[in-house]
Amino acid sequence: MFKKGLLFVMLLTAFAFGVVACGGNTTAPAPGGQAPQEGTTGGDATNTEATSLYNANCMACHATDLSGGGNFPSLQNVGGKYDASQISAIITNGRNGMPAFQGKLSADEINVLSEWLSAKK
Ligand code: HEC
Repeated sequence: MFKKGLLFVMLLTAFAFGVVACGGNTTAPAPGGQAPQEGTTGGDATNTEATSLYNANCMACHATDLSGGGNFPSLQNVGGKYDASQISAIITNGRNGMPAFQGKLSADEINVLSEWLSAKK
């Protein structure tokens, strides 16, 4: 009798735990995943915003580490080539194979990206 009761309690606990774990996974992926990145890039809020804008809009062509590849230029030292306003013009208007982001990103978002990239020298 006692043993059965204990088993039941253990099963209940395991079940409750499972539910809590699943809930946690679905509600908190973004902040959890971002935190270590912030640390490694020494990042402030702007850095974090730029990284997530980059990942959502640019990474497909310019690669996760900005190294580019194929017809896509590396952006790793792009700040040595262009200043923030030149980069902002490229993002806004596009150039050759580079799509224009006017209307897709706000001027603020393009600014954040341009400032961030202009520091990559
Ligand atoms: C569809 C693929 C694609 C996407 C998405 C894309 N780019 Fe590009 N990007 C290119 C190509 C291709 C070039 C080279 C253009 C040229 O040769 O004139 C380029 C060039 C650039 C340059 C100039 C590099 C240089 O050395 O001259 C910058 C800066 C740049 N991209 C930033 C971005 C940013 C920031 C985003 C996201 C908002 C982005 N790109 C998204 C394809 C892409």
